[in-house]
Amino acid sequence: MKAITTHESRAAVDARVEALLAQMTLAEKIGQMAQIEKNSVTPEQVRDHAVGSVLSGGGGNPSPNTPADWARMVRDFQEAALQSRLGIPIWYGTDAVHGHNNVRGATIFPHNIGLGAARDADLVRRIAQVTAREMLATHANWAFAPEVSVPQDIRWGRTFEGFSEDTALVSELGVAVIEGLQQAAAPDQRVLASVKHFVADGGTTWGTTRSYDWIPGWWQSADPQRWRIDQGDSRIDEATLRAVHLPPYAAAIAAGARNIMVSYSSWNGLKLHAHRYLLTDVLKGEMGFDGFLVSDWLAAQQLDADLETGMVTAINAGLDMIMVPFRLTEFITAVTRAVSDSRIALSRIDDAVTRILRVKVEFGLFERPFGDETLLATVGCDEHRQIAREAVRKSLVLLKGEPPVLPLARTASRLLIAGAGADNMGRQCGGWTIEWQGKEGDITPGTTLLQAVQQTASASTEVLYDADGAFADDVQAESALVVLSEVPYAEGEGDRQHLALPPEDVALVQRMRARCDRLIVVLYSGRPLVVDSILDQCDALVAAWLPGTEAAGITDVLFGDYPFHGMLPYAWPRGESAQA
Ligand code: BGC
Ligand code: BGC
Repeated sequence: MKAITTHESRAAVDARVEALLAQMTLAEKIGQMAQIEKNSVTPEQVRDHAVGSVLSGGGGNPSPNTPADWARMVRDFQEAALQSRLGIPIWYGTDAVHGHNNVRGATIFPHNIGLGAARDADLVRRIAQVTAREMLATHANWAFAPEVSVPQDIRWGRTFEGFSEDTALVSELGVAVIEGLQQAAAPDQRVLASVKHFVADGGTTWGTTRSYDWIPGWWQSADPQRWRIDQGDSRIDEATLRAVHLPPYAAAIAAGARNIMVSYSSWNGLKLHAHRYLLTDVLKGEMGFDGFLVSDWLAAQQLDADLETGMVTAINAGLDMIMVPFRLTEFITAVTRAVSDSRIALSRIDDAVTRILRVKVEFGLFERPFGDETLLATVGCDEHRQIAREAVRKSLVLLKGEPPVLPLARTASRLLIAGAGADNMGRQCGGWTIEWQGKEGDITPGTTLLQAVQQTASASTEVLYDADGAFADDVQAESALVVLSEVPYAEGEGDRQHLALPPEDVALVQRMRARCDRLIVVLYSGRPLVVDSILDQCDALVAAWLPGTEAAGITDVLFGDYPFHGMLPYAWPRGESAQA
């Protein structure tokens, strides 16, 4: 299947790029190689320096955070880029990893772990199409997705961003995302996918995360459990790297991937951002990738305390665009000096810029630099939310429970609900939602599980909710529902050595056990947790992953309108010792 329907032949694309490159000054070329965070650059600087891309990091939102304000923000940058001397449009990038998830009001889909459980490539393609449409409503044209990590250690805080520990499943669903983003219904409904993070980001060893004291405010935690495996070192041989972690990239390239994001992690001690063999020899050479490579956030700066040396190392290793993301003028100065000192060959700069421009031409960015604000009406619309609800429904995995425990009866006289996750949109959505780390509480419109139950149960059912299960002493019911949930996290903040349920959760389950005949536990988590402490206490246990805004997909199954469908995307550990 041809993933990019270019209106021009390869020869015509090349000729256009070559003609453009011939007109460019060195400064304009270096500008194209820069990707700057939106609060660290003005539209005027984008115009004056011919900046190649602007991004929103996690939580990089306008204020107020509405779809219309997003559209205005991105439009301002794009208009400025078009006023640059050569009028080269920008890519506007954002981490749309489960819907257009920074935007308040967007449809939030289950994180990839749930889609790995659903195992439905057509569904994933439709989700990516919706994501593309909601992005283009705001003029954003580059999604930092799909993540095709193959996580091998569930203590990793990014486990939920990977579809599965199984390479073949990751490849299949990664391709579906690329197809959905890049070949959505109409030609102007297409965004660039970024396949990440190359390579073996999911293969790192616990305890190998480094720190970088020359980067001010480098995220680190006083908590010794955090930042322990994320961005670490993959200590595996080349055969394992090629068998477990590389295939999703081959599949992505075959499906038309034109951008790949390089991983913070190292392979046997050498940072991927410095890895000429893997980036240039393997990916661009052997695998024939002729799109462009983008760095991760500050990752080129991790290579050396000297900014120029970091940029030289990364660009010579094969990076084409640098997610700087803060220091635009210092980046320009450093790379300019490196070229004049012959630390970077001009031919390497020309190759990088050729690759960046090639993809801009292929995607028709010069003809259609803007998205389509008439799509604003569709952001978070019912049709999109129905697809999210379908995804939630299909992602649920029944870990324990036989009829007659489930389904729940619509007509029960009373239903007890407990657990802070039951009415907490933030926990339901997890990290990478509105904020980088996600957030507790009412962060964006949607339906919580409590609301979904209230909408589903009959009018005569008394639905009682208390987060702590602190009901009056005599309150009993035939069935009770407890929602256990992780507090949201992203990246190394979510690294955890111990995955057992916290004692408060175990106590809550015990308290609720005493109040009902049938106890159903729903678990919101970004990875399997060790549930041995409650397994005997509950009659049914459902893994709901990080479902996103549409919890009615859960009641669809709990009340028996649909069967359980999901299968485990990761092995579920029994006991802490079984972990990694
Ligand atoms: C940004 C994220 C970024 C992270 C670096 C945060 O401050 O908001 O987008 O991924 O830093 O890991
Ligand atoms: C993450 C990437 C993300 C980038 C921009 C980094 O910290 O590793 O996955 O795309 O930030 O937010």
